[in-house]
Amino acid sequence: MSAVRRILVTGATGNVGRQVTAGLVAAGAYEVRALTRCPETAGLPPVVEVRRGDLSDAAGLAAASEGVDAVFLMWPFHSAEPADAVVAAIGRHADRVVFLSSGSVQDGVEPEAQSTPVGRWHRAVERRIEESGPAWTHLRPSAFAANTRWWAGQVRAGDAVRGAYGALPTHLLHEADIADVAVRALTEGGHAGAAYALTGPEVLTQAQQVRIIGEVLGRPLRWEELSRDAARRQLLADDGFPDTFVDPLLDGYAQMMTAPRPTVTGTVEAVTGAPARTYREWVAEHAADFV
Ligand SMILES: NC(=O)c1ccc[n+]([C@@H]2O[C@H](COP(=O)([O-])OP(=O)(O)OC[C@H]3O[C@@H](n4cnc5c(N)ncnc54)[C@H](OP(=O)(O)O)[C@@H]3O)[C@@H](O)[C@H]2O)c1
Repeated sequence: MSAVRRILVTGATGNVGRQVTAGLVAAGAYEVRALTRCPETAGLPPVVEVRRGDLSDAAGLAAASEGVDAVFLMWPFHSAEPADAVVAAIGRHADRVVFLSSGSVQDGVEPEAQSTPVGRWHRAVERRIEESGPAWTHLRPSAFAANTRWWAGQVRAGDAVRGAYGALPTHLLHEADIADVAVRALTEGGHAGAAYALTGPEVLTQAQQVRIIGEVLGRPLRWEELSRDAARRQLLADDGFPDTFVDPLLDGYAQMMTAPRPTVTGTVEAVTGAPARTYREWVAEHAADFV
């Protein structure tokens, strides 16, 4: 495989892709091309070649993939539907694909036998990538710390965050850690064929996460438990939350409540050499989002 010089980043304005882009630019050794549906508002560094494109438009994606050696692929869809065309378009040009998959994927389980919808569609895309030709690395992150921005409106409005499953334990992951692993996998050797289970460094319940936000903001903040139905109605009424993801999310939470307590992996540190960042660090960096 030839050395990586030009890299296409999809989802380049997102939580992870923006930091992948920044990491590649900071490395200084690569030409970075970014895909976005709206270059006018993308706010990417001037050195980045910004291409207008939509992942559901395979012809446009094929054009954006021309001349690239590696692709960072994120999956914005709540199904695997367009994967054949997307993966084929990339595979005609790139030698390497780093896929932002999901920690919901159960290792060694066929796509259709995955126990959650999120696991099913991500594993189906992984499978197509594995069959498509380029060397691949799958990143399987646990829940992003950025998800807790869903609570920002409630934090601004009062001293309680209402939701279902406050006792749900998760090992929230700082998106910068996912990006750091992605940059390594895109630019170094030794990551082909790896499926990296990435987690944050500690397990915290949702109620504990809310308490940490309060501690960082310097004011009391508590979790208030809602029934699943009430939480479902609240999420459906939230314009900032995709309706198609409400049931997969709540189904996933219900399943995780009965599963063994999640365990922390040391994969971020093993790949990057630096320990995974804590949730408290994430809140401190993003405190402005909650005030
Ligand atoms: N959140 C979690 O807890 C979690 C956990 C495990 C895995 N994941 C994976 O991570 C993904 C989310 O990554 P993220 O948080 O970095 O993204 P994000 O911040 O939610 O941003 C969405 C990105 O997707 C791009 N996008 C949306 N629809 C698109 C389309 N049709 N064509 C091209 N680009 C499109 C947007 O680009 P433009 O608007 O600029 O076009 C934007 O850059 C999820 O879809 C899932 O696969 C998430």
